[in-house]
Amino acid sequence: MSSKSKPAIDPFYLSADKFFQAAAPTALTYDDVSLATLYSAVLPRQTRLDTSLSDRLSLSLPIISADMDTVTEARMAIAMALQGGLGMIHYNMTQAEQVREVERVKNHIHGLIQDPAKVHPNQTIAEVLKIIEDNHYSFRTFPVVNEKGVLVGLLSGRVVKERYRNHTVAEAMTPRKDVFTIAQKALKKDPIGAADKFFNEHLGINKLLVVDNADRLCGLFTLSDIERLSDEARADRKPSRDADFHLRCGAALAIPRKSDGQIDKDNFAAHLGALSAIGCDAVALSTAHGHTAGVGDAVRFARKLFKDMTLIAGNVTSGAGVEYLADCGADAVKVGQGPGSICTTRVVAGVGVPQLTALYLASKGAAKKGVRIIADGGITKSGDIVKALTLADAVMLGGLLGGCREAPGDIMEINGKFYKQYRGMGSMAAMKAGSAARYGHDVKTAQTTGPAKIAAEGVEALKELSGSVVDVLTQLAGGVQSGMGYLG
Ligand code: XMP
Repeated sequence: MSSKSKPAIDPFYLSADKFFQAAAPTALTYDDVSLATLYSAVLPRQTRLDTSLSDRLSLSLPIISADMDTVTEARMAIAMALQGGLGMIHYNMTQAEQVREVERVKNHIHGLIQDPAKVHPNQTIAEVLKIIEDNHYSFRTFPVVNEKGVLVGLLSGRVVKERYRNHTVAEAMTPRKDVFTIAQKALKKDPIGAADKFFNEHLGINKLLVVDNADRLCGLFTLSDIERLSDEARADRKPSRDADFHLRCGAALAIPRKSDGQIDKDNFAAHLGALSAIGCDAVALSTAHGHTAGVGDAVRFARKLFKDMTLIAGNVTSGAGVEYLADCGADAVKVGQGPGSICTTRVVAGVGVPQLTALYLASKGAAKKGVRIIADGGITKSGDIVKALTLADAVMLGGLLGGCREAPGDIMEINGKFYKQYRGMGSMAAMKAGSAARYGHDVKTAQTTGPAKIAAEGVEALKELSGSVVDVLTQLAGGVQSGMGYLG
């Protein structure tokens, strides 16, 4: 439409460049802005949400779970990857523990129960009934293994009954020779495909056990799980998987320093090496201030050692910050200082740029250098994601996911309502647990002399239980598609 035909409203339909420049030096955040719509030729369901964090790492959902100790451990990262997003494992744990968490995600095969409940041949049916009751199991069929973990039979739910209570498992079970198994090495790249094929060829069989070379039990497929997965596979959003069919997973790193402040290069290289060896898909050097010599040096060092690793660095709030980290070798840069729901950086240190303007400035640097940017913090609803994605390649969520069942931490009941703890990584409690370095404080001071010596830049909160990651992400993705439909 020509500008002449709509002179009265045209000033309201500005490109990002004109809009943010007109508002300068006032900076804006999500709630200050609404996206204006014009003619659209697409329906929400026709829109696509795929994105990439580097030339080597694509996602079908532009959502990343925050590297916070009340948001992302293996369980959250598995749920995020299954929905097409990515989980960043936090670093308030030892390096070995973090590597194990990443490994759990990489080795997770959805639909394969990797450590199924099992029974011993010498147990009685009465004991099995007790196990079911104590653990609230909804199933009654158990693989039977001896003390070496070797499969000796399958106890069918048909015989796990009161009337057989005095029999032993060995007497009641289907013997090994009649149990259907598949060799672990036969699963290869497509375990679900292999299980699906088996169930198609064996009508009426609903359990398939996985064994290793020594006939030790290492997994269990059930027909109902595989059927559910086939339905999911037809959905538009594909799980995030690497070339070997493993789920994708990221990890955040604190930059280890010696007592003189220099990067502890041996320690850093060993941690990066351990993550790379198990196929960690992205490493984030997460700090409160990424536009610094220290973070730049660390990114350069990591890039030199691991040329193909997807490196995320941050956080910054300027185009110059993005350009600096891009020049150092980052593939993606996290943007946001203080917008987070549990952040007090702006109050404590008096710094930060309202998030939408920060994203605009960052997007200019990203366009110059050909890197991606991630909008980190301050997102409280799907509309914020739509606004963020007009400038950024992906968003990182803390608070919106902190109330999910898959987030670490226990569920608390207060006055009949259910909550989970959610805390800033710069909160006293989190810094004592290890994240002080992220805020430029000395970890040892935080752990020994305690909170009095350091300034907290985050608070602790409770999040009302918000169901599962699938529920939350389905709502958010639907909202984003709706926004994209409006915007054409
Ligand atoms: P949301 O708003 O999603 O924000 O809860 C999550 C992001 O907040 C950042 N973060 C902090 N920022 N003090 C801060 O200033 C903190 O204690 C803190 N903890 C987390 C982080 O970028 C995260 O992804």
